[in-house]
Amino acid sequence: MSDLASDIPRLREAVIQRLIEQAPPPAPLAPEEAEALRARIKALLKERDAVLVVHFYVDEELQKLAEETGGHVSDSLDMADFGSRHPAKTLVVVGVRFMGETAKILNPEKRVLMPTLQAECSLDVGCPAEAFAAFCDQHPDRTVVVYANTSAAVKARADWVVTSSNALAIVRHLMARGEKILWAPDRHLGRYIQEQTGADMLMWQGECVVHDEFSAEGLRELMRQHPEAEVLVHPESPRGVVELAHHVGSTSQLIKAARESNAPTLIVATDRGIFYKMQQAAPGKTLIAAPTLGRGGSCSVCAHCPWMAMNGLQNLCEALEHPEGHEVTVDPAIIDRARLPIERMLEFSRSQGLVARATKD
Ligand code: 13P
Ligand code: SF4
Repeated sequence: MSDLASDIPRLREAVIQRLIEQAPPPAPLAPEEAEALRARIKALLKERDAVLVVHFYVDEELQKLAEETGGHVSDSLDMADFGSRHPAKTLVVVGVRFMGETAKILNPEKRVLMPTLQAECSLDVGCPAEAFAAFCDQHPDRTVVVYANTSAAVKARADWVVTSSNALAIVRHLMARGEKILWAPDRHLGRYIQEQTGADMLMWQGECVVHDEFSAEGLRELMRQHPEAEVLVHPESPRGVVELAHHVGSTSQLIKAARESNAPTLIVATDRGIFYKMQQAAPGKTLIAAPTLGRGGSCSVCAHCPWMAMNGLQNLCEALEHPEGHEVTVDPAIIDRARLPIERMLEFSRSQGLVARATKD
């Protein structure tokens, strides 16, 4: 391997670290400032014919606002489905950029706003479109399956887009057709799917900076202290952590598992933003965050995504007040190509009852 090739993972890590440092959380607000912003946002949503589409990992305050205004709080599959079914002229996507891009690709006629366009995802950043296209070119015999946590340009190169809610079902479907898979970008999720299905999968080596930090050793110790607990794990976590889980699944699947579990205590290995909805679903249960490695003495990614945390009342209000600088745009040529694998995923998921929202409308 040339020196440059062996340097690529280190360079990628350095870029991601730099982006984490440039992702400050919103400034704290006095109670009366927060109240004034909430009222203004509610008025603007009506004025602009806009609806909030919010991920489970963002601040609880923003999840509550979506609940109070007829918006939606959900996982990434359900966010895409909800946005493409809702009649509002403007979708306000509160999450990270790939979620806003997916909404725009599915709804090019709508205005898609985000509190910040700087909300990255380490999986997206770690899979640049040009390098990914070269990887695909080397393996033309493989069906290209990409996780939703990728740029619009990477999706444009895919045959299928998947999320953690439907990846197992879609890979099983492709396997039944005898297809070999090129998978990107999350190596942990890819390995989990490969082990569950036995599919022939060639992997891109990306990871989520948040889930990659969960510690199997720490989790084993916590389980010893709480023998009554069940463990819920998102499959972006390392193998050692997944192996200790009672339930493995997407964010919405973990909330469902919390609701249905008989255990009084749940240890949760995913972003702690999920605790708001999980506690609603399982009101009598004690939720404990799974331990992280806390590498480098910094806890900037310890069970909380630094980019999800960039969303706040102030930048949400700003996006509605002055949309310039908050509007998601995607090249129409990319939209044309990226739409196909996303719609394929939605159609498959709806037909299999995998989208919670689709069955309710
Ligand atoms: P879900 O699709 O399970 O909500 O996951 C999205 C995500 O970014 C996980 O880190
Ligand atoms: Fe990306 Fe991980 Fe943040 Fe999800 S939690 S948006 S996968 S960096």
